[in-house]
Amino acid sequence: MTAAFALRGVGVRHGEAWTLRDVDLEVQPGEHVALIGPSGAGKTTLLALLNGLGSPSAGTVETLGCELARAPERRRRAVRARVGTVHQGLHLVDRLAVVHNVSAGRLGAWPLWRAALSLAVPQETGEARAALEHVGLADRLWERTDRLSGGERQRVAVARVLAQRPEAVLADEPTASLDRPRGREVLALLRTAGGPGTALVVSLHDVDLALECFPRIVALLDGRVVFDGPPAQVPRDVLVRAGRSATGAPEVAGVTA
Ligand SMILES: Nc1ncnc2c1ncn2[C@@H]1O[C@H](COP(=O)(O)OP(=O)(O)OP(=O)(O)O)[C@@H](O)[C@H]1O
Ligand SMILES: [Mg+2]
Repeated sequence: MTAAFALRGVGVRHGEAWTLRDVDLEVQPGEHVALIGPSGAGKTTLLALLNGLGSPSAGTVETLGCELARAPERRRRAVRARVGTVHQGLHLVDRLAVVHNVSAGRLGAWPLWRAALSLAVPQETGEARAALEHVGLADRLWERTDRLSGGERQRVAVARVLAQRPEAVLADEPTASLDRPRGREVLALLRTAGGPGTALVVSLHDVDLALECFPRIVALLDGRVVFDGPPAQVPRDVLVRAGRSATGAPEVAGVTA
């Protein structure tokens, strides 16, 4: 079986500093992984490697069996279209209707003429509708995206990834700015977004939510993987450094445990 993601001896350097170091990681099809670690640990940098937005300074990264950093442009684009990403800033176009934003998930799979046409006339609304139904927003299809709440916008971003029918899903802080129940909902949607073979890698600030919702935790500290395993086995000091207070309660800003 080809791994969804395989990193071997990976490092990423920004100037003199190494943002990621010696990262070895495999994620199999169907596996669901939460990436935890304090701000600046390298979570976004790692996710960018997985979808080919970034390239390693050392080592190799394979996505769905393809080394994106070395692949010819056509192949790169074809593989990247099979990976759905919910970005940290969502990347939604506010003044467009919800349906346009969701249909954009299919852009990578369409010929250019169709992608261009979709800017004027939304394509495959049946599919966009099904995706929005899945996230509980079927009635908001034609609403302007900037009229939605923060939680609803997160769900539109998930619907866009759903519409892409990806083989792997990446999400960078998809619960940021949501309360716990809404955050939990979005994670459940992501976990059911693909089929049984869809790999999922999600970065999360909320350590408790990561432990509750994911069977596999990968913890980053200063660009290194310091833990990779089931939630029950994450060492306490790793949890604390990743942002959880020593008591297990959410940390209060400015107060260290
Ligand atoms: N393009 C860049 N140029 C220079 N430094 C960078 C660049 N991208 C990231 N870094 C540095 O790499 C480190 C890791 O950044 P990254 O965004 O991956 O962290 P993160 O774990 O996602 O943090 P957060 O939880 O705040 O989103 C940071 O110290 C950041 O300043
Ligand atoms: Mg980040």
